[in-house]
Amino acid sequence: TSVAERVRALVAAHRGDRGALLPILHRIQAEFGYVDSEVVPVLAAELNISRADVHGVITFYTDFRSEPAGRTVLKLCRAEACQSVGAERLVAHAEQVLGIKVGQTTGDGSVTLEQVFCLGNCALGPAGQLNERVQGRLTPGRLDALLTEAVN
Ligand code: FES
Repeated sequence: TSVAERVRALVAAHRGDRGALLPILHRIQAEFGYVDSEVVPVLAAELNISRADVHGVITFYTDFRSEPAGRTVLKLCRAEACQSVGAERLVAHAEQVLGIKVGQTTGDGSVTLEQVFCLGNCALGPAGQLNERVQGRLTPGRLDALLTEAVN
């Protein structure tokens, strides 16, 4: 099935629901790994809302990706508690070693770097999540070791 067909099927399943857009977008992301820009006009037409509205929702919620993620996804917490113990230094370090900015994926598709705002691990900041695993007390050195392990 094409993305457009799948989107139509999801819309049909949510027909009549108010606020169907978010659950549909979550399903698309879960199934395809990201929300391709080609779903925007399909969703707009099917849900009878403007493309700008669909696009606005996708960009407002940072959980939605607009392109496939890398094989490893590193999320670094930038919320207050982690900021107070060096989160920004860690983000800068990750950007430097990976050669990308937050929100980007390395050219070889190995790592995607994302920011999050609280992982519920505030007492052990700076916190991050590597693939599904939450990590605490991250330092640049520990981050390098975790990345090396994950990528190899
Ligand atoms: Fe970073 Fe809560 S502020 S885990």
